[in-house]
Amino acid sequence: MSLEIGKCAKDPLDAAGLNVSQAGSGPKNGGVIIKAVVLREFGDPDVLCVDEVPIAQKGLDDILIRVRAAGVNRADLLERMGLYPPPDPQPRYHILGLECAGVVEQVGERVTRFHQGDRVMALVNGGAYAEYVACPADNAWLIPPALDDTQAAGIPEAFITAYDALVQKAELKMGQRVLIHAGAGGVGSAAIQLARQMGLHAAATVGSSEKAEHAKQFGAEVVINYHHEDFVREVLAWSDQGVDAVLDFVGQDYLKRNLAVLRTGGIVVVIGTLSGVKGELDLGDLLKRRLTVRGTALRSRQGYDKMRIIQEFATATSAFFQTGQLRAVIDQVFMLEEASQAHRYMASNKNIGKIILRMPPN
Ligand SMILES: NC(=O)c1ccc[n+]([C@@H]2O[C@H](COP(=O)([O-])OP(=O)(O)OC[C@H]3O[C@@H](n4cnc5c(N)ncnc54)[C@H](OP(=O)(O)O)[C@@H]3O)[C@@H](O)[C@H]2O)c1
Repeated sequence: MSLEIGKCAKDPLDAAGLNVSQAGSGPKNGGVIIKAVVLREFGDPDVLCVDEVPIAQKGLDDILIRVRAAGVNRADLLERMGLYPPPDPQPRYHILGLECAGVVEQVGERVTRFHQGDRVMALVNGGAYAEYVACPADNAWLIPPALDDTQAAGIPEAFITAYDALVQKAELKMGQRVLIHAGAGGVGSAAIQLARQMGLHAAATVGSSEKAEHAKQFGAEVVINYHHEDFVREVLAWSDQGVDAVLDFVGQDYLKRNLAVLRTGGIVVVIGTLSGVKGELDLGDLLKRRLTVRGTALRSRQGYDKMRIIQEFATATSAFFQTGQLRAVIDQVFMLEEASQAHRYMASNKNIGKIILRMPPN
């Protein structure tokens, strides 16, 4: 497939500025030009178009990945609208994309973990909607051989977010109960599977009967269609005393109800704020029942903190992905030049699991 270059560009991008990059500084890559979805202005999905830019440069501790597939995330939709700026330093060419799967093309001088040709998946700080992306070697790990690139690209953001919430933030142990909202979404489908592997009891909320069927297959014991049922009543009936934790993506509209389904000592982990960011807390109830409301975000983590969660996750789960006990649920695959369609599809709330962008074959 050939790519239509710069179809919505007002003027050609400056492809000569080779001392700027998506990640780090270090050896130059000889003026190589690559294709990427470059954000030139904020707006609706039509602002996404394929353009030509200088290849990302790698630093001494980085790898350069030839991207074969990249995951689409809700954060990308916000970033496209100008509502979620990338962490510093601001890249000269604003390329979306927080995760990818591909092949190591080059390694920085201090990298010992990988070699050219290794198949890797990675969590990146941006820039994955491109033929190549550079990232710290510590933010990547080997793709289990049984997985293809599309499946691997759907793992990093959703699964590490879910792992962080269940294991590090809520500190859940075998036999405990968790309510997972948006149970058929990218993160929700990952969280339900991880909960099952951890020996937890999971309930989930979803917005359709089709999604409910899928959430049950992922391992949820109880699935509530919030359009027709009251999740507080259903979860309390299922759990008796309430749940140990709620994984929440909805925010504002659910805060009060999330606290209502917690047992004494329970925790709400706020992962997303799909309905809004404001909420009212009954602090008396918080004290009396010793409740916790805790937020988490993956992208804003830096350095060792980020590396630690990525490598801990990779060590704990790679064998389960190899055997198929864990899997990224892939809903639709779009080509890189169809990024605007992929964004529209995600905004429609129809996806069950992940949406992936494929790079054109070289
Ligand atoms: N903190 C972090 O580090 C981090 C990392 C990854 C993702 N996130 C956030 O987590 C959330 C989920 O991400 P995802 O990748 O799973 O997205 P996704 O696959 O698009 O799933 C989101 C689902 O949430 C449900 N939903 C949307 N708006 C809603 C509303 N107002 N009330 C109730 N349900 C609503 C919809 O499913 P139904 O049809 O079932 O309602 C939608 O399909 C996003 O907000 C994302 O930004 C945060």
